[in-house]
Amino acid sequence: MMKNRLLTLTLVTGAIVFASCNQSSKNKEMVKQEIYGTTQGKEVYMFTLTNKEGNVLKLTNFGAKINWIEVPDKNGNKDNITFGYDTFEGTITGDKYFGAVVGRYANRIAKGKFTLDGVENNLPLNDGPNTLHGGPAGWHSVVWNAEILKDSKYPAVKFTYVSPDMEEGFPGTVNAEVVYTWTDNNEIVMDYKCTTDKKTVVNVTNHAYFNLHGAGNGDILDHVLTLKASAFTPIDSVMIPTGEIRPVAGTPFDFTTPHAIGERINEQYNQLILGKGYDHNFVLDNIDPVDVTVYDSASGRVLEVITDQPGMQFYTGNFLDGTQIGHGGKPYNYRSGFCLESGHYPDSPNHPNFPSTVLNPGDTLKTQTIYRFSVR
Ligand code: BGC
Repeated sequence: MMKNRLLTLTLVTGAIVFASCNQSSKNKEMVKQEIYGTTQGKEVYMFTLTNKEGNVLKLTNFGAKINWIEVPDKNGNKDNITFGYDTFEGTITGDKYFGAVVGRYANRIAKGKFTLDGVENNLPLNDGPNTLHGGPAGWHSVVWNAEILKDSKYPAVKFTYVSPDMEEGFPGTVNAEVVYTWTDNNEIVMDYKCTTDKKTVVNVTNHAYFNLHGAGNGDILDHVLTLKASAFTPIDSVMIPTGEIRPVAGTPFDFTTPHAIGERINEQYNQLILGKGYDHNFVLDNIDPVDVTVYDSASGRVLEVITDQPGMQFYTGNFLDGTQIGHGGKPYNYRSGFCLESGHYPDSPNHPNFPSTVLNPGDTLKTQTIYRFSVR
C-alpha cells in the first residue's frame, strides 16, 4: 500500500551537506547531516549521531525513522541491532514501519471509525476491516522538517510535522514534534509533543524492530524479556481489543519475571493463536523505574525501555517473511525482530474504559520513551 502518488525517487550519492560538532563536549560527539534523496518534492536527509562512546545512531526525516543503532556486545564488538536499509530506495519503498514514528493514531482503530462529540469520523482502512498506524499515508510515510539541536548536551535532532485537518480522516491540524537525543549512556531519548486546533485523538509511538544478536542474525526467541505489566488487553479475530483487561498471572503473557520470548510463544493459548504470536498491548504497571528489559546472553546486550505511556505493544515479528532485505543485504525473517511500541491502548477512541487519547485545543501532549542499551 505504498503511496505512489507522492513518490518521486531521486537517488543522491553520498553528498555531505554539513557537519555539526557539539563544542560543549569531546569532538567525537557530533551530528552529521547528509542528503539521502528527494521525495514528495522535499529533501530527505540521513543524520548520523555519534556519542562520546563512539556509538552511532542514524535517523532520517522520512517518517522520522531510526535507521541504524550501532552498539557494542560484551566483547566490545559493535553491530547494528535495528532493522533498516542501506539505500534511499530501500527506505522509501521497503517496509513502511521499520524505525518509524507512527501517528496520528498508532495501532488499530476498529472499522476505521470513531465518534467525537457526536460526530462520526471515517478513516481509510489498511488492515483488513481496520485502520492501522494512522492509515496508509500516516506519519511514517511523510517527510518531516529536521533541525540539528546545536545547544543540546548530547547529539540531538528535532523532527516536526504539521498534520493537516482531516489528514487520513482525522479532525484538526496537529503540530507534531519528536526530538531524538543520543546520550553518552547509549540511550535514545524520544521526546514527543503534539498540539491541535480542533478536538482530535492522538497516539504516537516508535516502531523500531530490534535483534540484539545484530539485525538479520537469527531469530529473537532466545532473548529474555521482563515486562512490568500485570495485565494485557486481549484481542478478537481481527486484532482489536475486546475491552477486557486481563491479568497476565498464570498465562504465557506473564513476563513480570524474566522469560525467553520463545519459551511459551507456541502454546495453544487462544490469545497467542489469534495474535500469531505476541502482538498485544500490555498494561504497564508504571511503577518500576524500567518498564521493559530484554537480554541476549549470546551477545550480552541489554535493551531497557522506560516510558511514561500507559501501554506497550509487544510484537514478535510474526508477519516478517524474509522478503525485506535490509542492511548488508540481510533478509528479515519470521520472528527475527521484536518491537516494543510504547503508547496508549489500541482502539482507545472506541473503548471508554481505556485511558483517553483525546487531545483538545490548548492542551499539549507531551510524552517520553527511552531505549537504553548496555551489556551484561
Ligand atoms: C502491529 C502488527 C503489525 C505491525 C506492522 C505492529 O504494531 O501490532 O500487527 O503487523 O505493526 O509493522
